[in-house]
Amino acid sequence: MNLTLRIWRQQNANALGSFVSYQVKDVTAEMSFLEMLDALNENLLSRGEVPVAFDHDCREGICGSCGFLINGVAHGGQRGTTVCQLSMRFFKDGDSLTLEPWRARAFPVIRDLIVNRSAFDRIIQAGGFISAPTGSAPDANAILVPKEAADTSFDAAACIGCGACVAACPNAAAMLFTSAKITHLNTLPQGQPQRDQRTLAMVVAMANEHFGSCTNHGECEAVCPKEIPLEFIGMMNRDLMRAVWRRHREPLVIPGIVQHPFHDHAGTETERS
Ligand code: SF4
Ligand code: FES
Repeated sequence: MNLTLRIWRQQNANALGSFVSYQVKDVTAEMSFLEMLDALNENLLSRGEVPVAFDHDCREGICGSCGFLINGVAHGGQRGTTVCQLSMRFFKDGDSLTLEPWRARAFPVIRDLIVNRSAFDRIIQAGGFISAPTGSAPDANAILVPKEAADTSFDAAACIGCGACVAACPNAAAMLFTSAKITHLNTLPQGQPQRDQRTLAMVVAMANEHFGSCTNHGECEAVCPKEIPLEFIGMMNRDLMRAVWRRHREPLVIPGIVQHPFHDHAGTETERS
């Protein structure tokens, strides 16, 4: 099949970008979308032109490196599918496809279809880590993990950090991603000692990274290649309210949340500065 691609070309974060049209010929149904772009790039290189930059690594839907908009839809619109796993059999001869990078203030364009998603890394970093051996028979004295908790944690851990949820959200919110990362650890018994602290730290980190706020559109869930459910956002919000209610001793600064008077141990009420 032959395709027309309109691809966003931008040299770096500070350069002006624009769409450039390319014809791609002899695409087979067996190719993946990224293999089709490889073929385009080989053609561009043979003509002495600069290839199109796009992120990829595993090409198996595992690493979360790949991702861009195809005709305005993150990862191309096949449910539960990353763009590296997207097959060309879903397209037809003569199709015209527009490819552009994630559009979000928190994800500046590095080049062409590649954006900088290190804001996600900083949110994860803010949450710290826990030690919970996986993949082998537990020691006899290990903390037991209830099956339901293990399943929920595993479902949350499926998030690959691709950023499609942010790109699809009209507010460029990172709530689905952050809620998955929080739920991953907060549902495990090993994650309980720092549950409040982790939730607060990650939500504050998210707010500081210029992501928008959730207004319940659900676009994130619709495009998520790992089908992370909106339910995790509800769980994160419950954990956040619980953490705020319990009020750690140190002052809490959460953008958008009103600070109420603090009750000290003597039962007297004092205003926090
Ligand atoms: S929640 Fe889904 S769409 Fe968002 S980063 Fe994780 S895997 Fe990607
Ligand atoms: S390249 Fe690893 S998920 Fe697509």
